[in-house]
Amino acid sequence: MRAVPSTFDVLLTPVHRWVWSDVQRRARKLLRFADTEEDGAHDLSRAAEMTPDPSLRLLYLRHAAEEQSHAVLFRRRGCDLLDPSRGRVFEANWLAPGERGLDNLDVGSERDESLLAFLHLSEKAAAGRFVVYERVLAGDPQTRAVFARVLKDEEFHMTYTHKQLARLTPRRRGLRLWQARAGRLWKAYLRIAASLASAIGTAMLAVQYFVVLPVFSLAAKRAARLEPEGFVAARRRVALEDQY
Ligand SMILES: [Fe+2]
Ligand SMILES: [Fe+2]
Repeated sequence: MRAVPSTFDVLLTPVHRWVWSDVQRRARKLLRFADTEEDGAHDLSRAAEMTPDPSLRLLYLRHAAEEQSHAVLFRRRGCDLLDPSRGRVFEANWLAPGERGLDNLDVGSERDESLLAFLHLSEKAAAGRFVVYERVLAGDPQTRAVFARVLKDEEFHMTYTHKQLARLTPRRRGLRLWQARAGRLWKAYLRIAASLASAIGTAMLAVQYFVVLPVFSLAAKRAARLEPEGFVAARRRVALEDQY
């Protein structure tokens, strides 16, 4: 199976070119990709531990080892490019994400068929994106070579997951893929909703800080000006014999 980028990613090529053009952002993104690949390797090792199928166990272990090697490649290149004296940059992770692997799927509670379906879609999407990243990185042959190297493995991942899914459920393969697609859509919705909530929360706090708080500050200053300065005579002592 050859990786083909989605129409959406092809249309976004100028955006991807812009995202990868800044060296510092490129370095940060590669380091982030390294973390995600490493997480994927952990999830796949767990899947290998849980599966009752011996041939799948071997494939999951190979897959885990390859994801770990991708993490090393991305981290090495990210460290070469990173300039620690420069601060953080906008990484545009929602526009140009890396590989999502099992995307926090609970490996222990999923069956092999649903894991394979989810993995197949995830690897396919990642491989398609890596084709675009490779294209837009013409000015950086070393990073481009890293993507080309990783892409070969990703193509193997999307192929073996598809073949194994067909072996386990020859009749319900389509259904499993649709279920996995729905799960990925739900996770994408949650990601968008979470970032929207975070953006709205930041805007609300900014409004409170710059608009609401100054009003109270001015009112407090005005009240302070009305107060008499210096010592003030104590209030008349009240008899404490009865309540009134
Ligand atoms: Fe990978
Ligand atoms: Fe992969």
